[in-house]
Parts: sequence; C-alpha cells; structure tokens
Amino acid sequence: MSRTIFVTTALPYANGSFHIGHIMEYIQADIWVRCMRMAGHTVHFVGADDAHGAPIMLKAESEGITPRALVARYASERPRYLDGFHIQFDHWHSTDTPENTQLSHDIYKNLKAAGLISTRSIEQFYDPVKGMFLADRYIKGECPNCHAKDQYGDACEVCGSVYAPTDLINPYSALTKATPVLKSSEHFFFNLSDPRCVEFLQAWTTGNNRQGHKRLQSEVLAKTREWLGGGANGGEANLADWDISRDAPYFGIEIPDAPGKYFYVWLDAPVGYLASLKAYCAIKGLDFDQLLDPDGQTEQFHFIGKDIVYFHALFWPAMLKFSGRKTPDGLHVHGFITVSGEKMSKSRGTGISPLRYLELGMDPEWLRYYMAAKLNAHVEDVDFNPDDFIARVNSDLVGKYINIASRAANFISKHFDGQLGYQENTQVLLGEIERVASSVRADLEAREYGRAIRQAMAFADSINQAFDAAQPWVLAKGLAQASAAQKDQLQDVCSRALAGFRALTVMLSPVLPTLAANVAQNLFGETAAYQWADAHKLPTSISPFKHLMQRVEPRMLDDLFEAPAEAAPAPTAVPGGQPIAPTIDFKDFAKIDLRIARIVQCETVDGSDKLLRLTLDVGEDRNRQVLSGIKAAYSPADLIGKLTVVVANLAPRKMRFGVSEGMILAASHSDASVDAGIYILEPWEGAQPGMRIS
Ligand code: MSP
Ligand code: ZN
Repeated sequence: MSRTIFVTTALPYANGSFHIGHIMEYIQADIWVRCMRMAGHTVHFVGADDAHGAPIMLKAESEGITPRALVARYASERPRYLDGFHIQFDHWHSTDTPENTQLSHDIYKNLKAAGLISTRSIEQFYDPVKGMFLADRYIKGECPNCHAKDQYGDACEVCGSVYAPTDLINPYSALTKATPVLKSSEHFFFNLSDPRCVEFLQAWTTGNNRQGHKRLQSEVLAKTREWLGGGANGGEANLADWDISRDAPYFGIEIPDAPGKYFYVWLDAPVGYLASLKAYCAIKGLDFDQLLDPDGQTEQFHFIGKDIVYFHALFWPAMLKFSGRKTPDGLHVHGFITVSGEKMSKSRGTGISPLRYLELGMDPEWLRYYMAAKLNAHVEDVDFNPDDFIARVNSDLVGKYINIASRAANFISKHFDGQLGYQENTQVLLGEIERVASSVRADLEAREYGRAIRQAMAFADSINQAFDAAQPWVLAKGLAQASAAQKDQLQDVCSRALAGFRALTVMLSPVLPTLAANVAQNLFGETAAYQWADAHKLPTSISPFKHLMQRVEPRMLDDLFEAPAEAAPAPTAVPGGQPIAPTIDFKDFAKIDLRIARIVQCETVDGSDKLLRLTLDVGEDRNRQVLSGIKAAYSPADLIGKLTVVVANLAPRKMRFGVSEGMILAASHSDASVDAGIYILEPWEGAQPGMRIS
C-alpha cells in the first residue's frame, strides 16, 4: 500500500556553514527518502534554517549587521552543499518567516487554551551594561568547587562539577565583563509536569506507530525512561515545566499579548518543520491541513542527532498533541561523526569541510557510499577515517561493483553488438536477484545501511567469482572459429554479470543516485529513474561502456584535511599579548626544518651587547655558527653542552658580526616592547643532535 510520509532533518542554526555532521544527517535522510520513493510512496522531505536565538543575535551584532542579514548570508550558501551532495529536499525554509510565526502563535494559543501555559517570576543574572538577561553560557567566573578561573555558568571544564550560575565566585558577563546583577522577570512556562503531559508522553514514547514499529529506538526509549519514569527501572516522572520565554532584546517571535516577551528559540524551531511543509504545500498546491490531519494517514518522521533527543522526544510531541495536532510517528536518531577518532564540535567547523571536499573535485557519491557503509539504525557514533574511506571506495565500490560492468560490457559490445543473451536457468539468476534486492531494500527501510551495503557487496563478490570461474577471456579467444556453443556461453557469462550489475545499481540507487541514473541511461538505455520493481528485470542490450567512476587518490585526503582558512577559529587574545597569526597549511609548516642541536661552544661577541655566538652540532659533518640575541638572559657557561632546537634550513644571514647559519628557538612576549624574559627551548632527555622535530 502506498504511504504518504513527511520527513525532516534537524534545522541547522543559521549562524554557521554546514559541517560534515550536518551533511551526514542529510545523506542519511536523503537515502531513506529515495528508498521510500522507489517503493512508490509519496514523500515530502523538507528542511529549514533555525534562524532565531541569542547566539545569532549576538554574532550579527558583533559583525555590525542585522540578524536577518547574517541568516541570509548562510542561507545563500546552503544550495552549494545540498546540490553538491545530491541531497534532494523538496523545500528549504526558515523559522524567521510568516508561516512559522503564525503556526507558533496558533500552537501557543491552543496550549494556553488547554491550560498548559503558566507564568511565574524568576530571578536571573542580568548584564547591566548590555541591558540583557544572560543565558548560562554568557556568564563566567571562578568554579565554586576547584576554583578554576573563567568557567562557564553551568559547569566547570576543569573539574567537571555542575552548578547554577549563581554559585560562581566573582561572576562576570562574557559579553561585557560587567558584574551581573540578579533581576527578576516574568517567564512563560509550558507545564510539562502536568499529569496529562506525563501520561501522554509515557504512552507516546513506549508505543508503536501505525506501521506497527516502535516510535523510538531502544536506546532513545531508555533515555526517555530516565526522564519519564516507568519501565524497568520504575521511578517517578522527573519532568520540570519548560521555560519557553525570553525577554527582549531577543531575535525571535514575540509572544501574543506579551510585549517584550519572545518565544525561546527551541519553541519555534521544531514548528519550523511545519512551516517549511506549509510553504511547500502552497507552492505545490497541496492541502497542508489535510496532509497533517491528526486522524489522517500521513506519517511523520524526524531525522535528528543524539544531542537533541530531549526536545524531540518530550517537548515536541507534547506541544503537538495538546495543540490538537498530529504527533510524530518516529524519531530517527543518529550518533555523531568523529574524524579520525576525534570529536568535532558543532560550533567549530573542525575536521573535513564539506565544501572543500567538493572543491577538490571529490565525487559526492564516494561520501554517500562511505556514510551508508558506516551507518546503522542505532545511535552510534560514526568515524570518518581516511584510510578506511579510500579502501571502501577503491576496493569495494569501484573494485567490486563498478568493475563488473567494465569487465563484462566490452565483450558484449565487441562480439555481440551490444545484445545480451541468456542460456537456460534465468529463473535461478532472477531468484537470486530478487532475494538480494528485497533484503537490501528491507535493510535500507530499517536504516540498516551498513548491512545493506555488506549484502550488496557480497552479491558483487559472487558475480565476480562466477565471471572469473567461467574465464570469458579464454572463451573470447579465436571466437571467429569457435563453436556456437562457445559463443553462447561467452554471451551468457557476460549477460549474467551485467544483469547482476544492473540489479545492484537499482539497489544502490538511493545511495548513488547520479551514478544509477547514468548507468540506466547510458549503459542500459532506460529513461525513467529506477523503482524497486525494476530490480527484477533482466536487461536485453547495452550501449558501449563509458567510464563510470574514478578511484580516490590518497593525495585528495591529504588535501581534504588541511583546515580551510575560513574555518579557522577567530584569533583570540592570548597571554602573550598578540593574537595568533593566520592559519597555515601543514605544507607550510613542513617547509621549516627544525632540528635538535647541541651547543658545543658559546661565547660573547666583541662589540655587541645583545648577541652570543653559538657553535652548534646539528648532526652534520661540520658544526654551524649561529648568532643569537640572548645575551641579556644567558651567559655562555649556562648554555655549553645543552641541547636546543634550531631552524636548520633558514637561509644563512650575513650580520655585522659574522654569518649566522640558522636560528635557535626561544620564547618571549609576543609584543617585543614588553620585557618578560627570554627562554630557550630545551628538548626532553634522550633527544640527539640532528633529530628532526615535527
Ligand atoms: N538548531 C538545532 C536543531 C533544531 S531542530 C528543530 C540544532 N542545530 S545544529 O546545527 O547544532 O545541529 C543540527 C543537526 O546536526 C542536529 O541533528 C545535530 O545532532 C547534528 N549534528 C551536529 N554535530 C554533529 C556531528 N558531529 N555529527 C553528526 N551530527 C551532528 O541542534
Ligand atoms: Zn572546577
């Protein structure tokens, strides 16, 4: 039966470019959407920018532009990423739109009418200079536990203790450094602790959707049990009412009949899912209200990361339920992507830049394939590992799958004029194809992408083995004189391989959509995009094989890892006084040849009150002479016999007191006018003259 499915991905904050974590989420969702469409289901797949909130307001302010201008800047670059990775949203919207304002107002009014909104006065830190209440992350001070300085208002990064901002010793505003004052103000709350909410959420989180599947993955359900009570651990519900208002100045949606009060960004952010769908419906002439009729048949799924489960498993369904709307049929929660085992933060664009990936000319479908190979239906982190990436793309994707076509197609074009032909027993072949295709399809639907890819590759292995065992290159020798049986056999062997290749292409087309379209059109002469049912047809002819996919060059991954200049963190003030110099590539760093040197001799320089003359053993067959401006800090006797670090490939410099063949490294205040001493670098014990430093 054909289903109608509404699919979203989390709405990215609009104060930064997409990073690889966003792209992973979109690829995961896009594969699922394409898979469902191939089954003939109707899918509406939308996204949007999450435009509101204090960080966006403050970032815009620091750049001297309006929040809208800031959001527009990031919005304008979104299509390059989405198109680049073949992510096919039907519509991309923003939470800063009339649709979202109206829907947020409606939902709020209905919650209020249901008696689920209350107000009370709360006391909070306020920045008297900025004239603004401060969220925890904008308050810093000394940790009440370990006394580390400059810790955030919610937790200490040094000792890990968690506290309230009011517990900080000597708190200050991170925005103005002013001492914050406690001030009270009226806030609006969504009464999540209301027994109706608790009861609903206990049922919603544990229940099944209309497909008979659990709405939540087991590990997500376990999390919600901690918050909601019930389940194996028993326990009482532990839900606090949710503070949904913020005072001006705030970039957000004003609360009806409450001047100067705005919805907290997380109230209107998920409503943005609906706003985007609504705008899409208007463009397409679809009936939004009917589509999302609470008693209707449309299914609703949200792809999100593990960090935002609380909002999506508790607040969001409750908001929808008690405003009389349709509730979600499920959350598809993924883990985080790490890069070579290291965590990447969502505020730093660390690791690999998706845009750089595209700019290097790397094939977007390599990444789609790689992500698919690594993803499963659990909330597990996924590691992007360069060597693994190269191996999977080159050995599996190209080596096993693409290779089938390049090996088999040439025989068919050369000897059979592109015509495929099968001997008896196509039933067995078709049965095999049907078995693999339905199992790959089931895995993709269940978001077990890694298992789907493994099955597809096992099938590719078996196709290659059958091909090799038949030795078509032997059959093709002296074909003009060969028997009809030998010709038929050659044609059969190659046709079976190509039939398998075509079936694999159908199965992989959610993952590799442009490759599949290319194969369909240019190899098999098919015009329509593949549906699942197409897997069970045997092809009858091919056009000459044209190159389908490049292998990854390992060099590309080296280039990928060079941090792009625009992603470098903004220079920050350092104790040394000056900001950090602009980011360089590893290539630039590698140009500097740093070596361990032993100071074999050291003497003062006649006529100079700054310089010492050092004779250095850098592991070469002769010693070097280096002149160094460290006389103020060291006397020759301090240095003789010691090890230090020298820039060994610095061009020799002729100075008034002789030639200096290199430079030794020493620390000093970065502002030369501040005298904070000079400190020569000394390696740890065991280093030998001539060793390279990297
Ligand atoms: N604006 C909120 C979501 C509002 S949804 C109504 C937000 N934005 S975000 O830009 O920080 O994150 C967007 C999505 O990217 C989230 O699903 C988040 O989990 C995901 N990821 C952020 N960093 C990630 C990784 N390192 N790896 C994978 N996904 C990650 O949260
Ligand atoms: Zn501490």
